[in-house]
Amino acid sequence: MLERIVIPSSVDRRTPPAEIQLWISDARQRIEAFQDRWDRPQIEQFVAADYELVYQSLGWALESQMLIGKRFLEWGCGFAVVSALAGTFDLDVIGIEAEPELLAQGRRLVGEWNADVELIHGNFLPRGGESLADDPTLPSLGHDVPCGYTAVGLELDDFAIVYSYPWPGEDDFHERVFDRYASVGALLMQFCGPNDVRLWRKRG
Ligand SMILES: C[S@@+](CC[C@H](N)C(=O)[O-])C[C@H]1O[C@@H](n2cnc3c(N)ncnc32)[C@H](O)[C@@H]1O
Repeated sequence: MLERIVIPSSVDRRTPPAEIQLWISDARQRIEAFQDRWDRPQIEQFVAADYELVYQSLGWALESQMLIGKRFLEWGCGFAVVSALAGTFDLDVIGIEAEPELLAQGRRLVGEWNADVELIHGNFLPRGGESLADDPTLPSLGHDVPCGYTAVGLELDDFAIVYSYPWPGEDDFHERVFDRYASVGALLMQFCGPNDVRLWRKRG
């Protein structure tokens, strides 16, 4: 069972350090330039989150919530902005991404920012996780790539915090997958749209 932890709306008054603000504006420019390119089809799977709000929410959660460990996982890391931001806290960060072109952008970003994170090409859904979906058209389904967990020799229940940005309508699928496979006590943070960051803890 997942228990909701309410993130106070005042988190948006936590001013990120200047270096983080520079990273976020650099990330926005990279993403815009990538999405404006005319010479290849758009990758519709990728949408940028509100990285400032995610950073503020993560900082609040790390200060106020009990953690069962230091491993942080980004489901579908895209440009790996959240992974890189999470790496500035005392966390061991892994991002998993199915789409090779996005992963390449993520690897370039973490390289140029010198961020201490590991990015993996693969599927973030644990084996068997797809069966928890009640709609076969959800964007998180059907990625024909290797299991992301095998590559690092870990399972979902080895992570203390998971971050995801579900498409509208698949937030409850992500919750079900987390509830089934994560460790008791682990946290799930979801960016669900403007001003909507949700935090859950798996209860036994
Ligand atoms: C809405 S974007 C969010 C990107 C990033 N987390 C962020 O907040 O900026 C969702 C990402 O998940 C990736 N994705 C979707 N389903 C996946 C799966 N089953 N395994 C790995 N990556 C997946 C997509 O390619 C896309 O990059």
